Amino acid sequence: MKEYKLIINTNSKKYPIYIGYNILKNSKRIFKKNNIQIKKCLIVVDKNVPKKNLSVLKKNIVSSKILFHSFNANEKSKSLEYVNSILKILFINNFNRDDYIIALGGGITGDVVGFAASIFKRGMKFINIPTTLLSQVDSSIGGKTGVNNIYGKNLVGSFYQPEIVISDVKILNSLNKREIVCGYGEILKHSIISKEKNFNYLNKHKFKILNLKSPFLEKTIYDSCKIKKNIVERDEKEKNLRKILNLGHTFGHAYEASNGYSKNLNHGEAVILGIISSAKFSLINHVLPQKIYKKIVSHVKELNLSINLKRYFKKKNVNLILKYMKSDKKNNNNNINIILIKNFGKIDLNKRFNVSKIKSFLRLELNN
Ligand SMILES: NC(=O)c1ccc[n+]([C@@H]2O[C@H](COP(=O)([O-])OP(=O)(O)OC[C@H]3O[C@@H](n4cnc5c(N)ncnc54)[C@H](O)[C@@H]3O)[C@@H](O)[C@H]2O)c1
Repeated sequence: MKEYKLIINTNSKKYPIYIGYNILKNSKRIFKKNNIQIKKCLIVVDKNVPKKNLSVLKKNIVSSKILFHSFNANEKSKSLEYVNSILKILFINNFNRDDYIIALGGGITGDVVGFAASIFKRGMKFINIPTTLLSQVDSSIGGKTGVNNIYGKNLVGSFYQPEIVISDVKILNSLNKREIVCGYGEILKHSIISKEKNFNYLNKHKFKILNLKSPFLEKTIYDSCKIKKNIVERDEKEKNLRKILNLGHTFGHAYEASNGYSKNLNHGEAVILGIISSAKFSLINHVLPQKIYKKIVSHVKELNLSINLKRYFKKKNVNLILKYMKSDKKNNNNNINIILIKNFGKIDLNKRFNVSKIKSFLRLELNN
């Protein structure tokens, strides 16, 4: 089966991402090829990742000392307290900056372990082995690491690039359908911000991708990573262009939060709803042609995902949704930044709208 390789070249580091089916079993070769010599390492493994993956990884590490630690990954354990407990293991076992910490898990594991790596003695070697579709197409690229606190999500963190990322798509077989949809939301976003050609590929092969069929899955992950690579290489620290990756997230995060992060609307589903809201908002503000709007909406409908906000919210929830939209870093009490879609690959990043305009939009959506 084909093995894809992408080089991410940021100002702070250049590193490879490998994507392929069953490539974890080749990781010894991949490490050697990239001159990665692991003398001592700590593997932090998500407890829901099937155990055989850890065994395969361990067999591929030529090292005198391998420690491992099982992580109960959830938004609550994505915390400074947990980072501290990882640091403690590293200190007790006399790790130094040339030793490795390896994340074997989804976006939460990668974010937490990457952050611990970035602050341990001001930076130790970090390897990311993402095990969810979302982490393979999104969170493992670009070096954002961090944790949540009582003030909100991902508010404490750093930009810290790994030495290497290995995305083995075989590991995704144990994911449930909703987690796959979660990753698909980010793939859809990447296709909208890039070229219509990428969106058309998704449209044609969406069911094969959602059913994790090779070679469609690997190609889609590779294309999606390439889109994010081109953005983070030009704007590693999110000065402007990288904000494009937040398409759909201002609405999406607010939907997720006002629904109490409940299981009936997960992150990816909220992002997909958010993308649809951004598209509708762009349509009614006369920046998105009806034809493109319809194309995006029918894609999501064919996936059997609900695009109807009324399924999750009532009209009386509008103020709560707005409260979360206003609390976003870029917004304030009067104005909210909404990323608008003008066409595939044509995104308007910096438009701000009066809160009352967004309020009427949400009320209308919940009325119809
Ligand atoms: N750093 C970034 O740039 C960036 C970008 C997007 C999202 N994120 C962060 O990523 C997180 C979401 O990531 P996620 O969706 O991967 O969530 P996650 O890490 O919580 O994983 C989702 C669920 O799948 C389980 N799991 C992981 N791998 C599995 C496997 N192979 N088989 C079976 N179960 C498995 C996990 O235990 C968890 O229950 C959020 O905290 C978000 O803030 C970060």
